[in-house]
Amino acid sequence: MAATRHPRAKGPSPGSGAASLPEPVFHDPKHHITIYQGDCLELLPRLPEESVDLIFADPPYFLSNDGITCHAGKMVSVNKGEWDKSQGPEVNHEFNRAWLAACQRVLKPNGTLWVSGTSHVIHSVGFALQQLGYKLLNDITWVKPNPPPNLSCRYFTHATETIIWAAKSRKSRHTFHYKLMRELAGGRQMKSVWEIAPPEPAEKRFGKHPTQKPLALLERILLASSNEGDLVLDPFLGSGTTALAAMRLVRAVLGIEADAALAGLALARLAGETCAVLVAVCAFGAGLDLRACFVDRSGRARTLKMPLEPKLVHRECKYFFVGRDEREVIYSVAAQTLEDAWESFRNSRHRNVPVFSVIKTETEIYLAQ
Ligand SMILES: C[S@@+](CC[C@H](N)C(=O)[O-])C[C@H]1O[C@@H](n2cnc3c(N)ncnc32)[C@H](O)[C@@H]1O
Repeated sequence: MAATRHPRAKGPSPGSGAASLPEPVFHDPKHHITIYQGDCLELLPRLPEESVDLIFADPPYFLSNDGITCHAGKMVSVNKGEWDKSQGPEVNHEFNRAWLAACQRVLKPNGTLWVSGTSHVIHSVGFALQQLGYKLLNDITWVKPNPPPNLSCRYFTHATETIIWAAKSRKSRHTFHYKLMRELAGGRQMKSVWEIAPPEPAEKRFGKHPTQKPLALLERILLASSNEGDLVLDPFLGSGTTALAAMRLVRAVLGIEADAALAGLALARLAGETCAVLVAVCAFGAGLDLRACFVDRSGRARTLKMPLEPKLVHRECKYFFVGRDEREVIYSVAAQTLEDAWESFRNSRHRNVPVFSVIKTETEIYLAQ
């Protein structure tokens, strides 16, 4: 298949210049989205040197120490997963140094890197950046407007995370869209304190990640320090927030995530972003209220029988196959299950067209009897 590159995408086309890389779990050459499932320490050295414009990294926090915190008014464990367990300060620091060195190698000379973290990890990250000769540009304090209360009442409520912004080296001439940031800050210089709410429920509609970042945070980072067509890398992709922000802002993106289920969640979020299904209901000569709602104004309790019991008269389940290279519906079929729909797709003349997502719609028509 012929891969057209974004006109301003100067980064590598994964799979071409990087022969030793494994098959990505997702690769969309037209929109320059590539996701690998694996360990970033193994995969980063296999990417071409000086090929990436911007890196956002949200590494393990090393805070999963069996403590407790408060979530939605309930006491819950702080543990995020096996990947977040501390190995002790020295081993944690060696890990941070290793992935930061691997990131520095793939950054272009003027490229920059953003790393977010809590106090458990961010000091080690800052020290490693200094050890490696990065140039520290800013440390952003991300303020969470409604942080969970501190249950022990022995500390201040943890209400911030730090995001360090650093350039590849002291010689780097980094990108900063000063005017745009000033505009977003209401005409004043944007400060390094950002108040941004945690992810909206809609950002979690495909599933939850315990440390998911808000899309608004990633969009600001990308707008501030990259251009359309730049290649953005996230070595700890998680639920894919960076990939989603990059896709929305027309940046190429390469993500690495160790956990297969989370890589799947990132893909679901990307696919969800590309489709909006509008459902319109037309009723002719009848109201849309299927059950007439009577109000008893007599003051006496009375049971009113619904005179209009609606009856299901038609049910249909359709599957729409969306193409990967050209974002359009390439095939649709009415089927009972997704497996049946795939079977039908495989028997169609479209079977060799790469599919990005499959959208299922269910229609049920009820009529009052
Ligand atoms: C803090 S979370 C990132 C959350 C992400 N920013 C988001 O918005 O969803 C870190 C992620 O890194 C993954 N991870 C941990 N170690 C890794 C490694 N060595 N290579 C690649 N991914 C790793 C974890 O599975 C986890 O999903």
